[in-house]
Amino acid sequence: MFVAVLLLLVTLCAHRGHSEEAEEAQRPGHVSVIIVGATGDLAKKYLWQGFFQLYVNQVSSGNSFSFHGGGLSPADKATPVLFEALKAVSCSQDVSPERCALLKEQFLRLSQYRQLKTLEDYQALAKHIEQQLQEEGMTEAGRLFYLSVPAFAYADIAEKINGSCRPSSGAWLRVVLEKPFGHDFRSAQVLASQLGSSLKDEEMYRIDHYLGKQVVSKILPFRIENRQFLDPIWNKHSIERIEIVVKETLDVKGRIPFYDQYGVIRDVLQNHLTEVMTLLTAKLPKNVSSTEEVLQNKLQIFSSLLPLGKNQAVIGQYQAYKSEVQQELNKTKDHISLTPTFAAVLAHIDETQYEGVPILLISGKMLDERVGYARILFKNDMFCLQKHNSVHCKPKQIVFYFGHGDLQYPAILVSKNLFKPALIDGDWKEVTEHKDVSVLGLSISDYYVQTPTEQREAYAELISHIFAGRKNSFISSENLLASWSLWTPLLSSLASSFPRIYPGGADNGALLDVRLKGNDISYSSEVLIISPEQMGGAAANNFQVMQGKFRSADMVSAWAEGLVERLAEDLQEAAEAAVREAGVFHLALSGGSTPLALFHRLVLHHFSFPWRNTHVWMVDERCVPLTEPESNFRSVYDHLLQHVRIPYYNIHPMPVQLNQRLCVEEDRGALQYEKELSKWVNGSSFHFVLLGVGYDGHTASLFPGSKASEHGESLVTLTESPVKPHQRMSLTFSAINRAHRVALLVMGKGKHELIQQLSRVKDNSDKYPVLAVKPDQGTLVWYIDYDALLG
Ligand code: BG6
Repeated sequence: MFVAVLLLLVTLCAHRGHSEEAEEAQRPGHVSVIIVGATGDLAKKYLWQGFFQLYVNQVSSGNSFSFHGGGLSPADKATPVLFEALKAVSCSQDVSPERCALLKEQFLRLSQYRQLKTLEDYQALAKHIEQQLQEEGMTEAGRLFYLSVPAFAYADIAEKINGSCRPSSGAWLRVVLEKPFGHDFRSAQVLASQLGSSLKDEEMYRIDHYLGKQVVSKILPFRIENRQFLDPIWNKHSIERIEIVVKETLDVKGRIPFYDQYGVIRDVLQNHLTEVMTLLTAKLPKNVSSTEEVLQNKLQIFSSLLPLGKNQAVIGQYQAYKSEVQQELNKTKDHISLTPTFAAVLAHIDETQYEGVPILLISGKMLDERVGYARILFKNDMFCLQKHNSVHCKPKQIVFYFGHGDLQYPAILVSKNLFKPALIDGDWKEVTEHKDVSVLGLSISDYYVQTPTEQREAYAELISHIFAGRKNSFISSENLLASWSLWTPLLSSLASSFPRIYPGGADNGALLDVRLKGNDISYSSEVLIISPEQMGGAAANNFQVMQGKFRSADMVSAWAEGLVERLAEDLQEAAEAAVREAGVFHLALSGGSTPLALFHRLVLHHFSFPWRNTHVWMVDERCVPLTEPESNFRSVYDHLLQHVRIPYYNIHPMPVQLNQRLCVEEDRGALQYEKELSKWVNGSSFHFVLLGVGYDGHTASLFPGSKASEHGESLVTLTESPVKPHQRMSLTFSAINRAHRVALLVMGKGKHELIQQLSRVKDNSDKYPVLAVKPDQGTLVWYIDYDALLG
């Protein structure tokens, strides 16, 4: 009973809230519009035009208006700039030229600039509005502040508005804010609470202009209108993939001080693309004009999204960006920025309806074309044996085409092998006459196409919503924070990742193509292949993985992280090949600190590594109990073996402790290991040997001065190290050089000197034992990071 009453109350309140919104919007009276930042780019390009359109639409509605352009500059400087912007406004086609001229003239008369800097300025503005109302005997309908200023100024302006510009009771206050709403979850929260101390939630209108795009605003109505067709297919059984893509051709020159702090993920993915994603996947509201229900359903999606980690994103940066940053931020030539200008992110919704459906969010600057769309690609289980071009066998897809690209106009496209959609409403029309163009792999004639009868700017749309007090196309605090909590962990995990450098425009070719593998996304191509001579510092600054030659063996080079990623991939590839061919993979590992990053990479990112078929051997060991922290085996165990599913009988530590003593010749531990090796490993040839190199040029536990020839044919031997613990057991060069593949991993600035020496000296393996690594039949690859290579 109590619950029922409560529900009834909640429903009543919700209804009241909604009808109050509508009432407010309809109550006629005087409306004061104040654009703060009135002569900035956004205002000049979109806002004045949007407010003029509002004026034109409302002029006979019984409302009166005044427009105040505000800013930090004094009036004598800014007034001429403002009037230039005002003169540029235009009417839509249905307004006659005479009427348009008249309306423009009135609009100009109703608009004026005033400096809005100090609290006194805001007080004077309020006083001016009140006087005007009094003198003309008008009732006040409301005040609309549009803050087109950098976000850091919001809290202060909101405080001034709250302190001095609230209308008297009965009239509304609406304050419009532009992104960025924070930089991450924490800063968005701080901003929300600062604003919350001056403004009520219902007074704030956070704009995402994508929600004002005609096609985006019709996603929900389209889904509702075509429910009978969509219900059976809007789920994991039928959807192959969802793609939300905004490609741009422009660079960010001139905006770098802002952009470099944000990058494409914060600038476009966190807001525009995320909004589109939630509209595509949210539960359909019973009432599409119920703000609460729409926002609530969108919010629900955030709680079902799987967390985004590093493996769910790839990032890029256009080549010229670096020098633009150096120029605009006054940085030196060696300054590099890691800010991505391109990103592709793979999201998944953990709900039965969408389980496993990949959702790709992609955006970037300096790409080959300007286009924006959301495509729902459906599975197609048809196979046409003869006419594979028949309509049944073509891709089945719905494309919400925001605009630009080959089509040039906004549209909703449904491929003809799906269904014929109902028209959304009277403002939309079906297109039947087409120029010959193809959209996402299908000729336009393979689609049912609908488009708005009249194209309208997103800002003008949203301004009319704000005036009507309709909030469902705006971002609530809750939605904003939910979005940041999705994106913040990804942003932090990418903070020190190197973006792939791309040349820009059509030259990008396939460089930014991506591949989806389970929940992971990666670039589909490796970046390529220059010799070290060509390489130099410049190439390293491009962060890419390079392939070249070192002492006539193959070399892969990259920054540490990329290098380790690459080595892990190569290792897995070798493992898979060996398991395919021989059913088993024999891997010999070194100790020391260099390979730890590789072990971590294998544990955290290579879930499909064939550990069950892998035997792990040791390259060398210190003569200490295997449980001691100094033991190489202990380190391999702690960082790798204990985290993967490898059978214990596949693990082969070196027998350094026999008869309760360490590495005593008579105990013949080395021989025992050699026998074990011969027994398990075909021809005693490891598939893969991972080596490092010490500052003195030693590798495994084969130190300078000890002649390789001394070890004869033996595969395992006891050696002496110049540093403690002195006694070691080690594979010999005979064992190492029998391997199918040897990887020599060298990382860190500390090894730069050694690498320089090694690149110059003749074969002198007495002095530099590592130079004796020369696989008889197999291959040697040096993995050298840029720190070691370039110093
Ligand atoms: C803005 C971003 O929000 O959206 C810009 O700050 C981006 O970097 C723009 O260019 C894209 O909008 P549209 O409407 O041109 O697709």
